[in-house]
Amino acid sequence: MSKIALYFALIFFSYIFNVCSGAEDIFSANQPIKNGESIVSANGVYELGFFSLESSTNQYLSIRYKKADGVIAWIANRDAPLTNASGALTLSSEGTLKLFNGSNTIIWSSNSTRSLKNPVAQLLDTGNLVIRTENDPDQGDFLWQSFDFPDNTLLPGMKIGSKIGKNSATGLFWSFNSWKSNDDPSPGTFHVKLDITGYPQLFIYNTSARYIRAGPWNGVTWSGIPIAGLNNIFVDEFHFKEEEEVYYKYELFSNSVLIRLVIEPDGRLIRYAWTNQSNKWEPATLIQADYCDDYARCGAYGSCNGNNLCSCLNGFTPQNLEAWGGLNFSEGCVRATEYICSDRDDFVPHSNKKLPDTQRSLYNLSMNLEDCKKKCLENCSCTAYANTNITGKGSGCLLWFGGLIDIRDQEQSGQVLYVRVAASGSGSGSGSGSSSLASSSSGARRIILIVVLPIISILTVVLGIYLWHFCKYRKNNGEGGELIEGEIDNDGKDLPLFDFRTIANATNNFSNNNKLGEGGFGPVYKGILEDGKEIAVKRRSTRSTQGVEEFKNEVSCIAKLQHRNLVRLLGWSTTEEGERMLVYEYMPNKSLNFFIFGDKKERASLDWAKRYNIINGIAKGLLYLHEDSRLRVIHRDLKASNILLDYSMNPKISDFGMARSFGDTETEANTARVVGTYGYMSPEYAIEGAFSVKSDVYSFGVLMIEIVSGKKSRFFNHPDHNLNLMGHAWMSYKEDRLVELIDESILESIDQYQAYRVILIGLLCVQQYPEDRPNMSSVLMMLTSNNSLPHPKQPGFFTERKLDEEYNLSGNEADALYNLLDSSSSTQTVTAVEPR
Ligand SMILES: *[C@@H]1O[C@H](CO)[C@@H](O)[C@H](O)[C@H]1NC(C)=O
Ligand SMILES: *[C@@H]1O[C@H](CO)[C@@H](O)[C@H](O)[C@H]1NC(C)=O
Ligand SMILES: *[C@@H]1O[C@H](CO)[C@@H](O)[C@H](O)[C@H]1NC(C)=O
Ligand SMILES: *[C@@H]1O[C@H](CO)[C@@H](O)[C@H](O)[C@H]1NC(C)=O
Repeated sequence: MSKIALYFALIFFSYIFNVCSGAEDIFSANQPIKNGESIVSANGVYELGFFSLESSTNQYLSIRYKKADGVIAWIANRDAPLTNASGALTLSSEGTLKLFNGSNTIIWSSNSTRSLKNPVAQLLDTGNLVIRTENDPDQGDFLWQSFDFPDNTLLPGMKIGSKIGKNSATGLFWSFNSWKSNDDPSPGTFHVKLDITGYPQLFIYNTSARYIRAGPWNGVTWSGIPIAGLNNIFVDEFHFKEEEEVYYKYELFSNSVLIRLVIEPDGRLIRYAWTNQSNKWEPATLIQADYCDDYARCGAYGSCNGNNLCSCLNGFTPQNLEAWGGLNFSEGCVRATEYICSDRDDFVPHSNKKLPDTQRSLYNLSMNLEDCKKKCLENCSCTAYANTNITGKGSGCLLWFGGLIDIRDQEQSGQVLYVRVAASGSGSGSGSGSSSLASSSSGARRIILIVVLPIISILTVVLGIYLWHFCKYRKNNGEGGELIEGEIDNDGKDLPLFDFRTIANATNNFSNNNKLGEGGFGPVYKGILEDGKEIAVKRRSTRSTQGVEEFKNEVSCIAKLQHRNLVRLLGWSTTEEGERMLVYEYMPNKSLNFFIFGDKKERASLDWAKRYNIINGIAKGLLYLHEDSRLRVIHRDLKASNILLDYSMNPKISDFGMARSFGDTETEANTARVVGTYGYMSPEYAIEGAFSVKSDVYSFGVLMIEIVSGKKSRFFNHPDHNLNLMGHAWMSYKEDRLVELIDESILESIDQYQAYRVILIGLLCVQQYPEDRPNMSSVLMMLTSNNSLPHPKQPGFFTERKLDEEYNLSGNEADALYNLLDSSSSTQTVTAVEPR
């Protein structure tokens, strides 16, 4: 009792001297706190009193940081401010806090269903204002606590979630919501709460609409929030006892840092940290870091990537191709094949994903992944499964039913999601080749699966298959691209066979000094033949699985193509052991990307006249491939790094590893495997796998705009908008600002009229619909005449995706240079689209 007496004495003291910063943290029923007074937690961090916000004279009963800028952490009367400096807080003898205004009306009260004897109110060191009995031994059973009614701030130890309780009367629901604005703490539109309709997940709602989903807890963090990383500052806790309690909270380890989690009036969820060193609140945005966080941005079965663009999951294709091409992804994706449920269905793993919305999910925390898969196979409406907990080897089972919504790439905290696709061999998904031709002609259905998986390792697997198909097996797989029979059998007779010793001599016995570089399929050497002719020799590593016959077939195919704007294959050679080599003409000036994407000096060295010459040369080479060569060839991987430059900077198209040749009558085909390079792929090819001469025209259009602008189509960023390079060019055209598109390092040498024409022709080439794009003979005509040009329509955008780095010139350059037969350089992206 003497303790209480002491409290009274102290409060009296502070009252007399109007000391607001007394060391007192407790008050009792007969001692109100008046406006102007305050109590302070024992550690001196928090203070309870009547405070106003900076820009307003309204006063609020609030808990604030005593130091740390006096930031407010909790407000009692959010809706009912005191409009003048009167008012008092009392504690009734039953234990209810009541806030009176100047005219003695109650404007706020703590509501409790119980009552207590000898209640006291105390501001704990955590910032929690509690009501307890005066001499509660464990201080645990609070009659009321402010932590149960968070404001816009989640302090360490505060919970978000729900307590179901044995009877619903004791049930509690912890959530927190934003202020209206920074000077109006009344409830705003955003609130953060745990949705427990399926497996619990954290949501931010805007009024009642789902705004942002942080996702389910994965054992370490919310699936959509990057792992905070090991730190000795705070620890996240997720507590999940079915039928009892489920909540999230975080606790501080250290007194040296203050942390608060705030839902801002604009819907951002921000973690603020204060240290004595910084002496200010440092914000870290937890979510809504980019557009990918917008709920369901990519619709069902779509996944949002680092460029804020969407791609369909493996086995799915855009529901509305047109909208998708126009960057409206909300309609999402649908199954690419007719789905027939069978217990032989496959599950495609998607790694590093934020798990989809778990509202329609089931879970079993003790099941392993194996059983989880079985469980999913048992029910035809089960669409995916994953572990609930990613720690260790992973544990628990989460099953999804129906559409998979709100998936994104999540490099740090993402996990593997196993998505159901039709059993291979069942339904129409099997013969992707034969059915795809039908689909492209009828347009009735899109059968081709789109996968955007830039996994280089697939390349090695795909390569063998691809080379096998190249030249020889096109006819059988029905993917178009038929070779004329006689030429298949020509095993390179047209092409000189170089004596191995000649090649060895020319390359100084394949000395390291002669090495131009090393590619995935072996080194490339520079050589000088006895007559002084320079050559490049690509030595195929013995690890190559390619058979001798196929090798010769390739040689014979490429040998059929001869044009001054195509890199020439001079011959081939072989060692006695059968190690094979290809001999090309030597290209001293590397490739086009080296110049147009180089530093300022390199860019300036390729002046406008040279660039214009290069554009014309590429156009001629392409026209030859499409219309004039004996084989009608679609290159399929036209890009700056595949344009090599000779002594006079004349362009030569290289790398026919992706090329397809066509019969006379065919004009388009469809492939189950989309190969090529992002940034250059036309929408219909990237999305549907439909390729034609017009998909090459699209790539050429991209290339033209790259040559004029000196900007890469991939990785293009603009400070003012999110458009890709094609979008940027289009806007520049529409807004009559074409000059801004031109590489500033060639502005001096530019022929403006020519350059504008090139941009316009480029825009005509990248129009969304293939039928709108000109063919190469028209392109060449437009380039070489002054006839007026039609107005381009909006370009077809394509969703790009970042690879680690595009390529590195010194390392893979040689491979890219003399890569005529390889489809395996790191610059290429293979999109596997065959159902497994
Ligand atoms: C207590 O008040 C809060 C609002 O301050 C309200 O949401 C809650 O339902 C009330 N609880 C009881 C038991 O009256
Ligand atoms: C931070 O500064 C306050 C006073 O300025 C002091 O009381 C506190 O101990 C300091 N904390 C640390 C960890 O240095
Ligand atoms: C969860 O899985 C385990 C192991 O398979 C099983 O014994 C248990 O009954 C399941 N629990 C529920 C609620 O289905
Ligand atoms: C499959 O799961 C759904 C969703 O849980 C359920 O409604 C349906 O009855 C299940 N079907 C079968 C055959 O078990």
